Amino acid sequence: MKTHQLYNLDAFRQSNLLNWQRNTDFWLAAKLRHVPHVYPIAATILFREAQRVGRRLTVVDIGCGDAWVLRLLKEQRIDYKYVGLDFNESMLEHLRREHSEAGASFRHVDIELALPEDLAKTGDVVINAFNFFELADMPTAFANTTKAVAPDGGLLVFHIDPLTQLLSLVDSLDEFRAELSAFEQYGSALAYDKLIDLQGGEAQRMYKGILYRFAEYHRLARMHHLQLEDFEEILHARDGRPQLYQVALWRENRGLSES
Ligand SMILES: C[S@@+](CC[C@H](N)C(=O)[O-])C[C@H]1O[C@@H](n2cnc3c(N)ncnc32)[C@H](O)[C@@H]1O
Repeated sequence: MKTHQLYNLDAFRQSNLLNWQRNTDFWLAAKLRHVPHVYPIAATILFREAQRVGRRLTVVDIGCGDAWVLRLLKEQRIDYKYVGLDFNESMLEHLRREHSEAGASFRHVDIELALPEDLAKTGDVVINAFNFFELADMPTAFANTTKAVAPDGGLLVFHIDPLTQLLSLVDSLDEFRAELSAFEQYGSALAYDKLIDLQGGEAQRMYKGILYRFAEYHRLARMHHLQLEDFEEILHARDGRPQLYQVALWRENRGLSES
């Protein structure tokens, strides 16, 4: 089996952190496959959000990785204030050297533990790009994330459909069937290690993921008074293996009751 059951959430987070620390230089230098795939939709949404606020757009990027969102804001000439959060200090040190301009800052934050008080209600757009699916304590991480959303602000999430993630892990239909029945039984209590996708193929480096379905984020978003405003799916395939990106924007709406 390529998946395994999640038992100890804290142990998963610790091993994920160690994995990211090992992969920092690699991730910063790599030509990652997902970025060109979602860049156009991210640009469209961020441009629209900048027009909506009609002033400098504050973007809080959670699990910022190599900060491709910041590069996008610069390339698209969007008037921004950018705060990148990540739990991997080695990545942040590099990013602080690379982006020393006044509008950009980077903070060491583990979103499964807490959001710093001064970041509460600051994000016109709070982004989680491909990070939620590696967080074991999703209710806490989601709650901490939504705290960063400013009044009328948006939460923008980039995700990969778990069935296409499963398809990318297996080597045969029989293997897929076995994984599928485990997924049916355990759902998001299943985790996996996957080779990192590069534009030219796969790297011999792993990242760790958990099989969350979009519906789980949506349930939490509703609990936190967020209303779904936009949802897109983008399908890409390599070597016959589909990868379905899911992009959602929720809007802060205090009028919604908890459900
Ligand atoms: C798959 S990468 C995605 C990076 C970037 N957002 C992108 O789209 O390329 C996930 C990032 O989230 C960070 N991360 C993982 N768990 C985290 C946590 N609990 N708190 C903060 N950052 C975390 C990792 O260090 C890594 O940089």
